Amino acid sequence: MKMSVNLCGVELKNPVIAASGTFGFGREYDAFYDVASLGGISVKGLTRLPRLGNPPHRITETPSGMLNSVGLQNPGVEAFIQEDLPWLLEKGAVVIANAAGSTQDDYCYMAERLSKTDIHILEMNISCPNVKEGGVAFGTRPESVYNITAAVRAVCKKPLMVKLSPNVADIAEVAKAAQEGGADAISLINTLTGMAVDIRTRRPVLANVVGGLSGPAVRPVALRMCWQAANAVSIPVVGMGGIESGADAIAFLMVGCTAVQVGTANLYNPCACPDVIRGMEEYCAQYGVEDIRDLIGSLILN
Ligand SMILES: Cc1cc2nc3c(=O)[nH]c(=O)nc-3n(C[C@H](O)[C@H](O)[C@H](O)COP(=O)(O)O)c2cc1C
Repeated sequence: MKMSVNLCGVELKNPVIAASGTFGFGREYDAFYDVASLGGISVKGLTRLPRLGNPPHRITETPSGMLNSVGLQNPGVEAFIQEDLPWLLEKGAVVIANAAGSTQDDYCYMAERLSKTDIHILEMNISCPNVKEGGVAFGTRPESVYNITAAVRAVCKKPLMVKLSPNVADIAEVAKAAQEGGADAISLINTLTGMAVDIRTRRPVLANVVGGLSGPAVRPVALRMCWQAANAVSIPVVGMGGIESGADAIAFLMVGCTAVQVGTANLYNPCACPDVIRGMEEYCAQYGVEDIRDLIGSLILN
């Protein structure tokens, strides 16, 4: 059966991409399996300068999920280009550089800098809820999504995927704004803003007070938003949020996603991505699907 899909001009071996922030730069997972066997790798969110992220406590478990407020800890874009990108390219991985910033200028700088490298796709994260400046501030209103996308589009020479926030009133409007701004694809969802309280101390569990909810708990919300976004735009949609099995991924394809990303599941099952790929292959074998692309948008509504 044919498992490959085309994501804005880039051929992916299969539709499964490791999600940003849950996979580092791939090295740790390569001890478990060949990370180049994935459709792609979205690396940890990069910024212009290195960031230490937020103070601890930064992660807590929730029913069927987790809250994180890592706050974009990363070694900076130059360290990625010098140390991690060559390794990923040498392995033959499809590299999706996930980039964030505090200002429009930062985002444009990142796009220009990464355009000069051999990354395959730029994923612009305008949806991080865990940083004080920028991040999700750009991603919540259609107008600002349009503006930042258009500004980055003007300087970006790579396929541009805009990562959307679920913390919005109308995901279809935000998706349309990204398309109109010149995005080649959109990815969603980033985490849903949440909070946990330690009732013994009467303090928030996370030092940042609020964090982003991810994992299976968010999957129905993510699926609904991907379906709405896919119906609103003509560019490819990459779906994520709680995917941990082939069956989960197939549902995202059916609502219109061209590919999926697997995030939190990597943290409790280091082989989550290959497991998802195998589960998708099993589904195809069972249902006589010869080309995985036939499932994209195949949802029957009546
Ligand atoms: C610990 C952690 C760190 C994350 N860091 C990033 C990041 O740097 N950039 C980004 O775009 N998304 C980041 N995300 C969001 C994920 O990529 C993904 O959008 C979200 O977690 C939903 O998918 P999941 O339920 O499969 O994890 C992070 C998520 C987690 C759990």
